[in-house]
Amino acid sequence: MKNKILVTGGAGYIGSHTCIALHEAGYDIVVYDNLSNSSREAINRVSTLIGQSIEFIKGDTRDAEMLKQIFVAHQFFAVIHFAGLKAVGESVAKPLLYYNNNVSGSITLLEVMAEYNVKNLIFSSSATVYGDPETLPIDENSKRSCTNPYGQSKLAVEHILEDLSVSDQSWNLISLRYFNPVGSHPSGQIGEDPNDIPNNLMPYISQVAVGKLEKLSIFGNDYPTVDGTGVRDFIHVTDLAQGHVSALNYLEQQASSKSSSDTTSSVGFLPINLGTGKGTSVLELVSTFAKVSKQPIPYQFVARRAGDVASCYASADKAKALLGWQAKLSITDMCQDTWHWQSMNPNGYNET
Ligand code: NAD
Ligand code: UD1
Repeated sequence: MKNKILVTGGAGYIGSHTCIALHEAGYDIVVYDNLSNSSREAINRVSTLIGQSIEFIKGDTRDAEMLKQIFVAHQFFAVIHFAGLKAVGESVAKPLLYYNNNVSGSITLLEVMAEYNVKNLIFSSSATVYGDPETLPIDENSKRSCTNPYGQSKLAVEHILEDLSVSDQSWNLISLRYFNPVGSHPSGQIGEDPNDIPNNLMPYISQVAVGKLEKLSIFGNDYPTVDGTGVRDFIHVTDLAQGHVSALNYLEQQASSKSSSDTTSSVGFLPINLGTGKGTSVLELVSTFAKVSKQPIPYQFVARRAGDVASCYASADKAKALLGWQAKLSITDMCQDTWHWQSMNPNGYNET
């Protein structure tokens, strides 16, 4: 059995897919999630898919006492920290909730990790930390700036991690900056299950295709892009999940290459983009989805959405060079797997 990993937010969209990838790679996992934006059913389905029951603990990252009990009971090699709230609009309406949940939750987790001397962390950051990019593709040295509390909370945690790595060089802190995660596990058993009307493009398209929503509003057709609509770097969630396994392998290699008396870190704070490196426009995604699902996707053009950028896609060179990871799946795969999940589970995890 390989190392044991604590997965915060492991019942969520990206976390549940990563649990499968971790299990397949031989890791022993414990999931910690308050289920504020997810369902116990996701964990049940992951357990069925991997053929063994996942250890799940319902709890909040801001609850230090509960975290301590878990660190006493388990010897973790690392923490993968997905737990966080992620809706940009809600973060503007409820900034204190977002800073409390995302920033205070991360600080509490880091404090408990320090107390139990678990100093390997993989943090879920976002391409949102790049704001409106000055150059494309975006590499990890690009300027960071955010305009909404959600993005600020990710940036704040990155700054905390940087400061921590300076203060104590035994920390190994990888910040994975995800571009636009979409798609589902090919089984169609787990996927993205937004609570209300989706804010993001892919779940919106799939709910139009399945007939739950009438038509897609495309936010702007006058951007300086290939067809006037926004361009993003969509990445299949199973590729993204694999990126976490590669990051973990990297931390293990670094740990094993150090002598036992060497307490200084060779990793420190390490930001890495997880994207495909390719941009796809909103209209291109809509047309691929319609083709794959054989469903009409009615749409209308409306005004630009405040805070949106014209184009955003990654330079994925650092992930390839350091982690040996690169995305493999295409936009067609992403649409196919999203449609598989959506058509098999029109009401998500809520089967009624
Ligand atoms: P998600 O909402 O599906 O998963 C997050 C999980 O964390 C949920 O299960 C939720 O219940 C849990 N959670 C939230 N606050 C918690 C807390 N205080 N204590 C314990 N559990 C808590 O979201 P996701 O799409 O899987 O995203 C995972 C992470 O990746 C988030 O941190 C998100 O900000 C980040 N991210 C997501 C995207 C994206 O497009 N999905 C893009 C960039 C970054
Ligand atoms: C959004 C968030 C970002 C967050 C990411 C993942 C904003 C401004 N940005 O990124 O902080 O990290 O989600 O959660 O909210 N679109 C439509 N119609 C729709 C929905 C989207 O045309 O109904 C367009 C958008 O204008 C954009 C593209 O589709 O051009 C992608 O949008 P979305 O899926 O929301 O992702 P981002 O805006 O890239």
